[in-house]
Amino acid sequence: MFHKLVKHLGRPELYAPSSAPFWDDEHISRGMLAAHLDPQWDAASRNHAFIDQSVEWIFRLLPPTDNPRLLDLGCGPGLYAERFCRKGYQVTGIDLSKRSIHHARQSAAKQGLEITYCNQDYLDLSLQGMFDIVVLIYCDYGCLSDSSRKKVLANVYQALRPNGHLILDVFTPLQHEGKTETTTWRFEQEGYWKPEPHLCLQSFHRYDESNTFLDQYIVVTDKKIDCYNVWDHTFEVEDLRGELNGAGFSTVDIYGDVAGAEYQPDSTILCAVARKDT
Ligand SMILES: C[S@@+](CC[C@H](N)C(=O)[O-])C[C@H]1O[C@@H](n2cnc3c(N)ncnc32)[C@H](O)[C@@H]1O
Repeated sequence: MFHKLVKHLGRPELYAPSSAPFWDDEHISRGMLAAHLDPQWDAASRNHAFIDQSVEWIFRLLPPTDNPRLLDLGCGPGLYAERFCRKGYQVTGIDLSKRSIHHARQSAAKQGLEITYCNQDYLDLSLQGMFDIVVLIYCDYGCLSDSSRKKVLANVYQALRPNGHLILDVFTPLQHEGKTETTTWRFEQEGYWKPEPHLCLQSFHRYDESNTFLDQYIVVTDKKIDCYNVWDHTFEVEDLRGELNGAGFSTVDIYGDVAGAEYQPDSTILCAVARKDT
């Protein structure tokens, strides 16, 4: 056990994966769902007032009359998907978390909303030209490694019709400005990571040379050690534009958030609206 622990204690290689499932873990996903559904808390989802603004902005920018088919990648329990559906879009939501998709399906059925939900990894998406809009919201793009980001952009490009749009948001390096590398620990009888007594060794690592940051949680129980690596690759405007251009999106408009704020140099968020030009 001790040797296993020591193996996790060094500085992880850039984009080293978690040692156990995170989004779809039976226990973690329960806490995550509660966080999504908390209307005030900017945790798993942004607060619900912001989500209303976000959907309203996208509705005005790309109305469903001309852009009816919308794909929500990492849709969680359907907070955006339901709002888009009420605005008149034909919505498909994809998420890795069984619990979130189960909740999303039940919630849509209760409200009589026709939304297609799939419990799937968006890295395995293979749809051809079916969508007018694809959204990937709450900075999930930056959690992915360089190769996974390429993969997801290629999948999205293929899934969009010509002149279709991808909307995504990411953090800028300013999100982590002034944070120093730290290591802390806590013991909990039960908590976010495990339902049983556990020790959580938490650390923050900077990889400034690539504008990437890591929140690491090593969780030790009586029986096992799990290591959760939550990566955040952040972007300057030109980095994000470059990745999108490289994937074939030649027109990229930049905003300060996914509700259409003007981008300012001190913004901690960037939102890109990228068009698949013909
Ligand atoms: C931070 S949450 C944001 C959820 C939603 N976009 C929102 O803002 O309310 C990230 C979501 O993406 C999902 N997710 C993460 N990686 C995924 C993947 N590779 N394929 C599908 N879903 C994924 C997670 O299960 C989670 O529901």
